[in-house]
Amino acid sequence: MTTPSLTVPAAPQADADWWRQAAVYQIYPRSFADSNGDGIGDLGGIISRVPYLQQLGVDAVWLSPFYPSALADGGYDVDDFRDVDPKIGTLAEFDEMVAALHDAGIKLVVDLVPNHSSDRHEWFREALASPKGSNARARYIFRDGKGENGELPPADWTSIFSGPAWTRVPDGQWYLHSFATEQPDFNWEHPEVHEDFKHTLRFWSDRGVDGFRIDVAHGLAKDLGEVLPSKAELQAMPKDGTHPLWDRDEVHEIYAEWRAVFNEYTPARTAVAEAWVETPERRAKYASPEGLGQAFNFDLMEADFDATHFRDIVTDNLAQSAATGSSTTWVFSNHDGVRHATRYGLPPRAGRDVKQGAEWVLAGGPDEGIDRELGLRRARAATMFELALPGSAYLYQGEELGLHEVAEIPDAQRQDPAFWRTTAEDRGFDGLGRDGCRVPLPWAREGESFGFGTGGAHLPQPAWFADFSVEAEDGVAGSTLEMYREALRLRGELQSEESLTWDEEVSTGDVLAFERPGGWLSVTNFGDAPVALPDGEVLLASAPLTAADGTAQELPGATTVWLRRAEA
Ligand code: NOJ
Repeated sequence: MTTPSLTVPAAPQADADWWRQAAVYQIYPRSFADSNGDGIGDLGGIISRVPYLQQLGVDAVWLSPFYPSALADGGYDVDDFRDVDPKIGTLAEFDEMVAALHDAGIKLVVDLVPNHSSDRHEWFREALASPKGSNARARYIFRDGKGENGELPPADWTSIFSGPAWTRVPDGQWYLHSFATEQPDFNWEHPEVHEDFKHTLRFWSDRGVDGFRIDVAHGLAKDLGEVLPSKAELQAMPKDGTHPLWDRDEVHEIYAEWRAVFNEYTPARTAVAEAWVETPERRAKYASPEGLGQAFNFDLMEADFDATHFRDIVTDNLAQSAATGSSTTWVFSNHDGVRHATRYGLPPRAGRDVKQGAEWVLAGGPDEGIDRELGLRRARAATMFELALPGSAYLYQGEELGLHEVAEIPDAQRQDPAFWRTTAEDRGFDGLGRDGCRVPLPWAREGESFGFGTGGAHLPQPAWFADFSVEAEDGVAGSTLEMYREALRLRGELQSEESLTWDEEVSTGDVLAFERPGGWLSVTNFGDAPVALPDGEVLLASAPLTAADGTAQELPGATTVWLRRAEA
């Protein structure tokens, strides 16, 4: 028995729809490849690795911020939205990178950070140099303080990275920063802010950028009257479109303006929202074709390796995208989370108040309590599950090598403000911070920074990186790299209409099976014990299928297999 197909409108394979089912590879540029030996990854490094990306078989690259930045928040503190950080390259190199990616058939999505700039942005410097009440101050969110001499912040709010969300400037006023002190929030009620971001969208679109990833897309519109609510009041307010800070309905007016800009281009430029919202319905607004067009769904990043949980997430998200006309997105790892090979080697976390895996990192990454082999085995199975789903898959650099989170970073070498803004007593959701998934990639087994570059690596790489290097896995049958390459190649060949049908006969207990049009069957065994291998021609498996006694083929625990079935 099969359930009815979950179908969203079939995507014509026109170029304008390239994003709908793209496999998008996220590059965190400072940690990908370093071409000039300064220990920091750069555009030259990316250009030199385009053949690697092409061989991997991804459809697009999403580039995390590469703009001039003092790196108070890994580049999400932007000094100039229309330039390249000199430590990373030049605009000419950017153009060269776009051309090299396009020649290789790879699209480019760049990160845009519209909620805040850095405190070194020329507008913020102008704001500090200008008097209270000036136009320059009005582009950001300045307020007088409370207390007799304004010595107390306008409100007791805390920033997302802990610590106060308001910082005082020399003339006594305070500015709002939802993230680090160095990231002042823009005032999106100011028309110049609107105009400037449209300028930025055109600047990069004119240079050939195919799309944008919108950072903190749910944060831009704010409603801050003279009397500000307290932190406790803010926390108690529903996030239903009326919250003063997050996911306000008017934010979509900004994205409607941007849509008009995207549509000036052929094909239209695309966008994907990073929007942390309360309900799936609210996420759908960001994915509307009149707005950004697509939104991240982070549900799989937060899910335990569990058949029921995975199935519910897929069902809900496909239903949502059917309602918006967008395609859905899937993510297991990114630059903000503990890598999924590690998460899946740990016991499920007890509560949801810290990020999955954060307690383990906080404990110093002990060997007890983690089964690294099982974690990687499950991560591979999860990735093959993901790559068989309709919609776009966002992959994070290094997951194709099966990299684990690096827990062994000395405190003094940590960079993340989520670490530096907290103390041992008040480590929040991010635990020790996000540096452990941002360690420069190992390209070679040996040598200076495992082939990352010739001048060391800006975060320390552990010795075990050698066995996870590109060199160690390239051409090795069964390696994680070769599994990703083959899965992406097959995906390109098998991908068709955006629909799936759950196979209820095969899906029992710990086993989850679904079929895509054309007889492409993906079966995942989430349990520990082997089960019988369903009928069909085996295309690829995330682990060997031969039983321990070598006599038969079976689907072992924590394994995904793709099969081709004769169509009924
Ligand atoms: C979300 C980004 O993914 C994260 O890395 C960054 O710290 C915050 N936005 C602030 O820009």
